[in-house]
Amino acid sequence: MASIGDSKCVLVIGATAGIGRSLALSILSLPSKPTVVVAGRRKDRLDQLHKEHGHDGRLATIQMDIDVDRITLRKTVEDVIALHPKLDTIIFSAGVQHQFDWTKPKVVNFDNFASELNTNYTAVITMITYFLPHLLKLGSSGQHCFIVPITSGLAIIPSPSVSNYSATKAALHSFGISLSVQLSDTNVHVMEIMPPLVESELHDHQGTTPKLSKIWMPLDEFTVLAMDGLKRGDLHIPIGAVQQRYDKFEEGKVDVVNAMFNPRKT
Ligand SMILES: NC(=O)c1ccc[n+]([C@@H]2O[C@H](COP(=O)([O-])OP(=O)(O)OC[C@H]3O[C@@H](n4cnc5c(N)ncnc54)[C@H](OP(=O)(O)O)[C@@H]3O)[C@@H](O)[C@H]2O)c1
Repeated sequence: MASIGDSKCVLVIGATAGIGRSLALSILSLPSKPTVVVAGRRKDRLDQLHKEHGHDGRLATIQMDIDVDRITLRKTVEDVIALHPKLDTIIFSAGVQHQFDWTKPKVVNFDNFASELNTNYTAVITMITYFLPHLLKLGSSGQHCFIVPITSGLAIIPSPSVSNYSATKAALHSFGISLSVQLSDTNVHVMEIMPPLVESELHDHQGTTPKLSKIWMPLDEFTVLAMDGLKRGDLHIPIGAVQQRYDKFEEGKVDVVNAMFNPRKT
């Protein structure tokens, strides 16, 4: 089974903190010695990563904001491919989360709504679309390529306080299944990571970190489990408590999609 162990060059978008940073460093230490390109908005964090882990030349940095228009995203993708023509794996870890209360519709913040939708969903699909010609070409030369969206257990069971966030993750999860089925005859694979509540900076701006930190999965524990799935080449990687939700509501869904819409695979 093709897996992240085959990757030669991995881009991690959203690697300046939390899950993305931790996965990037784990991938950097794989015995296959891939190049790892870390991306995010905060240059000081990228510089720090390079200072601490860039000694053997395999860690590169790219400052990148994905909450932008599609012309800018296309230029970003073109620049990445020009700098890293062997790029075969992209982990989409950039994400934001906002709370909304629709019992108080007058104070719903549409800037936050639009930014969350773009960062967590629209920009990800846009970038996948711009990366695909490169990945399909590499794939047709025999190199296995991986698109790794990071969704959430909230893609399966939404949390009403973060309703739009949950919806963006459900949308990305659904899109990932369709993309995976459409690409099933190619060497481009979609491996979706579905984290539970995990130690990170995601909730800091909402003021909920002190409460959530009592129940979240430690980042190191999460990273080991996520890496196990990526190294096995699992196409769906539900972690911790998400496994139960996955087994109950999602198990067998891909087979149903194939049976209904992709008769070649049944
Ligand atoms: N932690 C959890 O409980 C949990 C659970 C389920 C799913 N997830 C998902 O896991 C992924 C990683 O989140 P995390 O928990 O690790 O959060 P985090 O610690 O806040 O990290 C988020 C990362 O996304 C980057 N980012 C945010 N907006 C960006 C933008 N416009 N352009 C480029 N990069 C951007 C941030 O970097 P800069 O600020 O430097 O740009 C940061 O590196 C997200 O997709 C999140 O939805 C998290």
